[in-house]
Amino acid sequence: MTARPFAHLAGLGVYLPSRVVANKDFEARLETSDQWIVERTGIRERRYAGAEETVSTMAQAATATALARAGIGVEDLGALIVATATPDHPLPSTACYLQALIGARNAAAFDVAAACSGFLFGITMAEGLIATGQARHVLVVGGEKLTSITDQDDRSTAILFGDGVGAAVISAGAKDGRGILSTFIKSDGALTNLLYIPSGGTADPISERMVRERTHYMKMAGREVFKHAVLTMAEACDEALRRAGVTAEQIDLLVPHQANIRIIDSTAKHAGIPAEKVLVTVDRYGNTSAASIPMALAYAESTGRLKPGMLVLLVAFGAGFTWGSAVIRW
Ligand code: ACO
Repeated sequence: MTARPFAHLAGLGVYLPSRVVANKDFEARLETSDQWIVERTGIRERRYAGAEETVSTMAQAATATALARAGIGVEDLGALIVATATPDHPLPSTACYLQALIGARNAAAFDVAAACSGFLFGITMAEGLIATGQARHVLVVGGEKLTSITDQDDRSTAILFGDGVGAAVISAGAKDGRGILSTFIKSDGALTNLLYIPSGGTADPISERMVRERTHYMKMAGREVFKHAVLTMAEACDEALRRAGVTAEQIDLLVPHQANIRIIDSTAKHAGIPAEKVLVTVDRYGNTSAASIPMALAYAESTGRLKPGMLVLLVAFGAGFTWGSAVIRW
């Protein structure tokens, strides 16, 4: 097998739902305040998808942009991966719905369930499919409609989450020396109960009781999740840098999962990366789980923060727990 890079990120796309929900909008119905939310999370506003929108329909628009930027046609996709915790349906995969919408008839389509780390798990899968000759071009989508699994009466979670989709085309080989230099993914299944949806799966199938008791919504032990996020994001930074054979001083842009500004600050501090090299979108999008990193990358590109040749460090953690990272020469 040849050495890395096996693959590069050839094109990005994003879909932002049009409805903007500001912190103030929660004040009327929850015991919270704009000041509390900004100080404890860094979030100012987030996007909410419309009732008729799903992860696959939102992904369709993001995918069109990513394919155009990559300069390939939809029939060139050998695989299509959707990272999501909010699939259109429990069965089949959201990737299959997206495949039908865009007409990617040559692709194998499947979902990745790794919560907020899903995009990094997805690009790791894409790189593997490319390295083993299964595909030359892989679409990796990180997409969420988190408002559908968030209890809008629970102030500790309602304020955190938003909807949106980011999509990336991963293509074979390096481009002008640019490509994926390292990836790292890991999990700890002993921590599932810190962030989960109790009901609706086979452990507690759909019932009237579940709706009455609101156990079909996400439950989170915020303080515990926070603690583990800080620890795992630090490990993930170190590991991606070590595997790529680069130092933190060489990193031009850190793009962390956008869950909470305090977790982002702590991750940057651990890695020794100064604030001006850290991308922050949590203020405008909130936590969009698997969509957070590709949405942040698309934002960085559109605002001129991300330029060809830059060394970029991606790092995420999420429910499971799962965590992961990557170093990319952009
Ligand atoms: N407004 C006002 N007060 C609030 C709110 C709110 N929206 N939410 C909670 N509080 C209160 C609590 O009830 C508590 O009150 P008490 O002291 O009277 O009991 C107090 O604020 C402090 O609560 P904590 O949970 O300790 O607050 P903390 O500073 O830890 O902030 C937060 C909470 C923002 C949730 C934080 O813990 C956090 O960000 N955790 C990580 C969450 C995260 O990243 N989750 C996503 C994981 S990614 C995925 O896979 C989906």
